[in-house]
Amino acid sequence: MRTIHSLKELRTLLNGYRRKGKTIGLVPTMGNLHEGHASLVRKAAEAADIVVTSIFVNPMQFGANEDLDTYPRTLAADQDMLEAAGNTLVFAPTVQEIYPEGLAQQTRVVVPDVSDGHCGASRLGHFDGVATVVTMLFNMVQPDFAVFGEKDFQQLAVIRKMVRDLMMPIDVVGAPTVREDDGLAKSSRNGYLSAEERRIAPVVYQTLTVTAGKLADGRTDFPALEREAEDLLNQAGLRTDYFNIVNSQTLKPASAGDRDLTLLVAAFLGTTRLIDNVSVTI
Ligand code: PAF
Repeated sequence: MRTIHSLKELRTLLNGYRRKGKTIGLVPTMGNLHEGHASLVRKAAEAADIVVTSIFVNPMQFGANEDLDTYPRTLAADQDMLEAAGNTLVFAPTVQEIYPEGLAQQTRVVVPDVSDGHCGASRLGHFDGVATVVTMLFNMVQPDFAVFGEKDFQQLAVIRKMVRDLMMPIDVVGAPTVREDDGLAKSSRNGYLSAEERRIAPVVYQTLTVTAGKLADGRTDFPALEREAEDLLNQAGLRTDYFNIVNSQTLKPASAGDRDLTLLVAAFLGTTRLIDNVSVTI
């Protein structure tokens, strides 16, 4: 497995693979990898000859008061995990390589509507930063397909719409959320939790499954269900950012007649913001 920092070298290598007729799968990440990322790489390796994992902590998708500076950079450990998962190339560019003229001068990709609400409402501009860097990664790697985790449900919806709207010749593949034994979704940010917060954190998934159960039992009073879920989270010591029951396709609030629903949650434990989701067909 090779690690490449420059775009020029990446292009040279990938052109060689393409000339030999090899298929290329891309797994975009910000590093500090865990088993969830490894599952994305394994999924890519099942379908592609060459798997490129990008590691880039993208400043454009962080808000002013967020954890850009403290986000863990763990390249050596990430390389070990990627090698074991069957990755071929690591692309770990510098900020200067990606944004040579600086963020203010950078052309941006905005994906309307689906970027609004939920995390988009709490993290203004976040999905513009994601859509921009993912477009650039797609242009740099030119993969046949790219794999994203379903834990970031809204991000996946944003990327799917972007690819559709801009007619990008890339398949977007979603991969299931990987969980700890107690249900907590694996996340790079779980490492921020204190021992006490880590004990409380599984309540996020428990609240999702309890609420999904109520929907499966026939309840359709969505706003009341959302309030009950928020109460459960807040009573356990979390601070709910949002708990929204939405139409799985549109991400708009669920309404009577919707059958495919997704429960989206973001909640703070101390200063750590956890997100998760569960989908249910009623
Ligand atoms: O999901 C992430 O890790 C990031 O948002 C992504 C897709 C790598 C873009 O920076």
